[in-house]
Amino acid sequence: MGHFSITITFIFLFLTRYHRLVHADSLATNVPPYSCDTSNPLTKSFPFCNLNLTITQRAKDIVSRLTLDEKISQLVNTAPAIPRLGIPSYQWWNEALHGVSYVGKGIRLNGSITAATSFPQIILIAASFDPKLWYRISKVIGTEARGVYNAGQAQGMTFWAPNINIFRDPRWGRGQETAGEDPLVNSKYGVSYVRGLQGDSFEGGKLIGGRLKASACCKHFTAYDLENWKGVNRYVFDAKVTLQDLADTYQPSFHSCVVQGRSSGIMCAYNRVNGVPNCADYNLLTNTARKKWNFNGYIASDCDAVRFIYEKQGYAKTPEDVVADVLRAGMDVECGNYMTKHAKSAVLQKKIPISQIDRALHNLFTIRIRLGLFDGNPTKLQYGRIGPNQVCSKENLDLALEAARSGIVLLKNTASILPLPRVNTLGVIGPNANKSSIVLLGNYFGQPCKQVSILKGFYTYASQTHYRSGCTDGVKCASAEIDRAVEVAKISDYVILVMGLDQSQETETLDRDHLELPGKQQKLINSVAKASKKPVILVILCGGPVDITFAKNNDKIGGIIWAGYPGELGGRALAQVVFGDYNPGGRLPMTWYPKDFIKIPMTDMRMRADPSSGYPGRTYRFYTGPKVYEFGYGLSYSNYSYNFISVKNNNIHINQSTTHSILENSETIRYKLVSELGKKACKTMSISVTLGITNTGSMAGKHPVLLFVKPKKGRNGNPVKQLVGFESVTVEGGGKGEVGFEVSVCEHLSRANESGVKVIEEGGYLFLVGELEYSINITL
Ligand SMILES: *[C@@H]1O[C@H](CO)[C@@H](O)[C@H](O)[C@H]1NC(C)=O
Ligand SMILES: *[C@@H]1O[C@H](CO)[C@@H](O)[C@H](O)[C@H]1NC(C)=O
Ligand SMILES: *[C@@H]1O[C@H](CO)[C@@H](O)[C@H](O)[C@H]1NC(C)=O
Ligand SMILES: *[C@@H]1O[C@H](CO)[C@@H](O)[C@H](O)[C@H]1NC(C)=O
Ligand SMILES: *[C@@H]1O[C@H](CO)[C@@H](O)[C@H](O)[C@H]1NC(C)=O
Ligand SMILES: *[C@@H]1O[C@H](CO)[C@@H](O)[C@H](O)[C@H]1NC(C)=O
Repeated sequence: MGHFSITITFIFLFLTRYHRLVHADSLATNVPPYSCDTSNPLTKSFPFCNLNLTITQRAKDIVSRLTLDEKISQLVNTAPAIPRLGIPSYQWWNEALHGVSYVGKGIRLNGSITAATSFPQIILIAASFDPKLWYRISKVIGTEARGVYNAGQAQGMTFWAPNINIFRDPRWGRGQETAGEDPLVNSKYGVSYVRGLQGDSFEGGKLIGGRLKASACCKHFTAYDLENWKGVNRYVFDAKVTLQDLADTYQPSFHSCVVQGRSSGIMCAYNRVNGVPNCADYNLLTNTARKKWNFNGYIASDCDAVRFIYEKQGYAKTPEDVVADVLRAGMDVECGNYMTKHAKSAVLQKKIPISQIDRALHNLFTIRIRLGLFDGNPTKLQYGRIGPNQVCSKENLDLALEAARSGIVLLKNTASILPLPRVNTLGVIGPNANKSSIVLLGNYFGQPCKQVSILKGFYTYASQTHYRSGCTDGVKCASAEIDRAVEVAKISDYVILVMGLDQSQETETLDRDHLELPGKQQKLINSVAKASKKPVILVILCGGPVDITFAKNNDKIGGIIWAGYPGELGGRALAQVVFGDYNPGGRLPMTWYPKDFIKIPMTDMRMRADPSSGYPGRTYRFYTGPKVYEFGYGLSYSNYSYNFISVKNNNIHINQSTTHSILENSETIRYKLVSELGKKACKTMSISVTLGITNTGSMAGKHPVLLFVKPKKGRNGNPVKQLVGFESVTVEGGGKGEVGFEVSVCEHLSRANESGVKVIEEGGYLFLVGELEYSINITL
């Protein structure tokens, strides 16, 4: 009874104080939630509100004031308010993969802002091979996120993007979210995204006082790239990864994201790696990220990953053990509510010291302070003036259009059938042609500002458009109306087929089990092509690659275009490409494998081929089998030729540090260790390459130049070739351009040996650009 009345008094106090101290969105919809209201004498007196103290001092002060129950309440994504300290609730889980999204818990597009710019899905953005464009996009996403926050429609400014896992297997349902299969592309993508979103400059290093415009989160740490293969799902999968593959495939993008991007967040993945759940891996989270890479942000778990460690993986004996394992490993905040339920008993059972909880809280409050949420009314601060007019603005939409155009890849163009002339009657056929614009967005989207279907995009280019879906049940196409589509083909001057996949075929939790176009799509395409007056244009929308060998080989299919999921203005971008208002220059960021590839288990994480067992290896770096289209493939309405203008230091002599050697196949191979050379020596050893590009066509074009390196003498375990630089350049028709690359000997000419140690071997190497080669020598 006594307890009861105390509770009532407490609730009463709680409510009055809450009203007085907390600016929560429920109280005033257009004021964002924040702490340290300067007009309030009580909060003003807290040292954590004192801007003269360092962020560390302030975070420490907050943590020191919390009771055990308050501390535990803050260890989950939905962190409740602490009214007595004037601290509002906070939502850690927000998404912004390719635009501010409402998929997380804290963003509401239902106030003065009802939509946000939806850029193309990342796999298409990656195809531009243009880091400056990537940076500009994420800068806009950060601006729109602040706009949403300032409008009182965001419960948090931590965003769980980018996804920088390697697109290892073509079946992966989330390959679409990544920048493809190459570690360097994913690294540069991650760094560009993080810098843009967080308010840094393109070159980095400009975050004043560590302040964040919005917080990025590199995910999923690590070796996560499988949803569900024959019943092995991501929650239980134990990825067996070699040290060598970890060093040169799975980890580099995370290393870059932390070291160069200075990401303020990391998410640990559901899966295990070599037996240990990622979120309970001290070696991964603390030794690697925090100690080796100096990561100073927060680490979140993937949603319910903590619970699954116990419930699905049976890794720990009790829920309390799991809590102790993840906190000790270095995780700071759980997406879920397992901490709420079990952290207190873990403390009472002495499974985890309070100091570990304090460490996590310190990291968490540091981020919230860095976001400017403890500096008084944020609308009066640095990013406070970003208003709703900066969301879905014309500039932002223009950028979404530019991004789609820059990524679209021309795969086939027999007899230069493309670009099409403006025509009288255009036949547009296919289940993706008139889908609502949501299909164009891929997953993790928000309400787009505009809706332009593919079909609508074509309207401006033809006097008359005939449309047929051709499939009665969408892209699944279990049932097709081939005759009606054929009728349309017969009466049209030109026919465009808009086929491919959507999220019903590939998405989070859903990997594909084959690489062909679903259902009767192939039959529909071939029938329409046969009936058409002229060769048809085939447009494929998809994230993961499909085996379209049949279309490649069909003479009645004159043009093939891959448009990924091109974002809210994808329809317009595609029409501009098809009718020649834009010269396509995108190049594939992933290998397109033949359908037989699925014979290898998706669970086999090995990158390197194993000839003895017929394992073909994965991605252009190691795959030895036949390809439908290769990494970096992409045509244009122009042709480009290259020449090496200069290569400074084509003979590298490394005389610092000890020379090591091993005997392999009775041959002695001498090498240096990158770690023994040290950062300073590594900095001095680089090769400056200046490359000339000539546009031999008549149309101006934006063209990504890809520089690869390969050892002259292929050895077991070496990549076939490796991308070491890329840059996009715009060249006038008949004009010339130049790009420069700094190739670092330590970074780009090294290899990971089987123990995962980076070594530089003596010998000859080749730079490759297109068909052009340039010889390099390394002596020790
Ligand atoms: C912070 O420093 C300024 C300048 O030294 C001083 O005027 C101000 O009173 C200080 N504020 C607090 C809360 O200590
Ligand atoms: C927006 O949605 C949230 C969550 O559903 C709701 O609490 C809020 O009242 C809504 N706001 C408006 C202006 O409709
Ligand atoms: C395309 O889809 C929209 C929306 O579902 C529909 O209103 C329109 O009639 C369709 N267009 C054609 C030509 O069928
Ligand atoms: C590009 O070069 C290829 C091969 O030489 C040629 O077949 C094609 O017509 C050229 N295309 C353009 C647009 O110049
Ligand atoms: C390498 O050795 C040469 C000759 O001994 C010396 O002049 C040079 O400075 C050394 N280079 C470096 C980078 O240490
Ligand atoms: C990799 O290099 C390190 C350092 O030289 C060496 O200790 C290790 O044995 C090498 N691993 C293999 C498999 O060659």
